[in-house]
Amino acid sequence: MNMSEFVKRRAKLMEHMGQGSIAVVPAARVVIRSKDTEYPFRQNSDFYYLTGFVEANAVLVLVPGREKGESILFCEERLLEVEQWTGERMGPDRGVQMLGVDDAFPYSDLTDILPGLLEGQARIHVTLGEQPTFDKELLALISELQSRSVQGIVAPGEIVALSHLLHDLRLYKSSHELQLMRKAASITCRAHERAMLFCQAGFNESDLEAELLHEFMRGGARFPAYPCIVGSGANACVMHYTGNADVMNTGDLVLIDAGCEYEHYASDVTRTFPVSGRFTDAQKQLYNIVLAAQLAAIDAVHPGNAFDLPHTRAIRVMAEGLVELGLLVGDVDHLIESEQYKTFCVHKTSHWMGLDVHDVGDYRVGEVWRELEPGMVLTIEPGLYVPDSAEYDLPWRGMGIRIEDDVLVTRQGHEVLTHQVVKTVEDIELLMSGQG
Ligand code: GLY
Ligand code: MN
Ligand code: MN
Repeated sequence: MNMSEFVKRRAKLMEHMGQGSIAVVPAARVVIRSKDTEYPFRQNSDFYYLTGFVEANAVLVLVPGREKGESILFCEERLLEVEQWTGERMGPDRGVQMLGVDDAFPYSDLTDILPGLLEGQARIHVTLGEQPTFDKELLALISELQSRSVQGIVAPGEIVALSHLLHDLRLYKSSHELQLMRKAASITCRAHERAMLFCQAGFNESDLEAELLHEFMRGGARFPAYPCIVGSGANACVMHYTGNADVMNTGDLVLIDAGCEYEHYASDVTRTFPVSGRFTDAQKQLYNIVLAAQLAAIDAVHPGNAFDLPHTRAIRVMAEGLVELGLLVGDVDHLIESEQYKTFCVHKTSHWMGLDVHDVGDYRVGEVWRELEPGMVLTIEPGLYVPDSAEYDLPWRGMGIRIEDDVLVTRQGHEVLTHQVVKTVEDIELLMSGQG
């Protein structure tokens, strides 16, 4: 763990908060999956960004300018009889050494100590809405303090969303974060190629999911960043298809949208390839339209360009291609303006990426699309989906194709973080033929 990185993040956030304010950031909670078993614990991304601490039952408090210490952690105490069952805890004492916080206390002391920290601060920055029970307790504490104003106690009168400041910081990735994102990307690329090599007609979609998860884990990434999508045939037209339960047929395409999470950082990659290893002519035609759209969109990732420009470019290439195939009829400008292309292009081309696969950060400033800046990471993921309906001719009906990469905005333009996985028709066929 790179302690100084987390210390720097807290300092930067506090600089933006200014004096007279306090931030209270709770860790994620353990969630029950079924009686006596829990979902694997995943730390809250905001809390992780500021601490690097991966336990539940913890709260970070930041008080810029506080003489006795600006960053205070509340976490579970070490108890051998508990650790024997659930593993080693950090404990407050080691929290100070290992996380670089100024002070740390047992989690059970939070309600005794927090009122004193809140007192005298004008503003409180909180993550309202994410943890309703915690919010309720915190608001009750504030309200209790406010009710004691006759005793001269000043309680925070202004509640501010922590996301205003914090999520903008999270949008610009440091070189440490980019190192982790490159690692996540390369594990994910290996996993996609493994699935392509393994694929055979007659196998189940879940067989490919197993290959993906195998490669994630072998690479050091215990969890996917989101549930793997393995959709063959018309299942590829279901955007969030995660059933992954059908047998794959020769002659069909299979769409895999999967990315691992490495040290809390996400990757998000989609490839679409033929189950048999060979594209049909019709599949090749539609695939090459999406690929051309994706390359045009990647080309538009450059500092100073609007966030929406890659999407606009991708839509134009896809609308032109759809007209050439006869799936759309009419003037391309009109088809775009009237949004008729949306029958086949159902989603946007990009989202931010980072600790969350759909990462935080504003996409617009007021009414205007935000400009891309170095350090931002976004996906480029155009897709075409021909509905599985009798309205459409057979070679295209039920065909779904998406191609997705993770792209870093650099000073000169961009870097495709997920460049290692094959993408052209020729390279996919070569790999799947065993000669790649
Ligand atoms: N895997 C979710 C997405 O591509 O946005
Ligand atoms: Mn995806
Ligand atoms: Mn995505």
